[in-house]
Amino acid sequence: MKFFLDTAKLSEIKEAADLGLVDGVTTNPSLMAKEHIEDYPAHYVAICRAQPGDVSAEVIATDYDGIMREALQLARLHPQIVVKVPMIKDGLKAIRALSDEGIKTNCTLIFSAAQAMLAAKAGATYVSPFIGRLDDHAHDGMALIRQIRTIFDNYLIETQILAASIRHTLHVTQCMEAGADVATLPYSVVMGLLKHPLTDVGLAKFLADHTAATKK
Ligand code: E4P
Repeated sequence: MKFFLDTAKLSEIKEAADLGLVDGVTTNPSLMAKEHIEDYPAHYVAICRAQPGDVSAEVIATDYDGIMREALQLARLHPQIVVKVPMIKDGLKAIRALSDEGIKTNCTLIFSAAQAMLAAKAGATYVSPFIGRLDDHAHDGMALIRQIRTIFDNYLIETQILAASIRHTLHVTQCMEAGADVATLPYSVVMGLLKHPLTDVGLAKFLADHTAATKK
């Protein structure tokens, strides 16, 4: 399974990339706003250069012509850019047109298997089901990942399942079990995956035993 980083913070992307843990990046308007980005195009290019994978850059327009105009500008920025388009009627139409032009897309704000199927039929490269936001509303987000996996396998659909809105490390291991193609993780979750208290306890014991055995 690929790990994408779900952030617009360049320092986090560079640090995780140095560890070899970044297969791509997802951003959204909220994440961009959080970093107070002023020059969006330059920032997207910087993210592309900081790591080797796809970078999802989201359109703001919600009408077909506006989405297409923004999408073409974004796609021209860098070969690693994937245009992120919301699951709305004009968004689906745009995904079809972009796909026909060979431009990669990520259909975002997916909350049902039916929406995932429609996005896949439109030619989306990725669909992004939001696990955490479903959990927040007492729906089982991971069940949706399993359901989409089964359906895509039934019909040999190549659209990749990009599990989004991941809140903690257990979500990540559950995504691996469920067969998500990609999980996009906040930096804190990536670092959380590295850690286990027994690793720290075990290492402290090894070092203490070594010190005891070698001191005069
Ligand atoms: C990524 O593509 C999504 O925009 C993101 O994972 C949403 O996460 P949130 O629900 O924590 O805002």
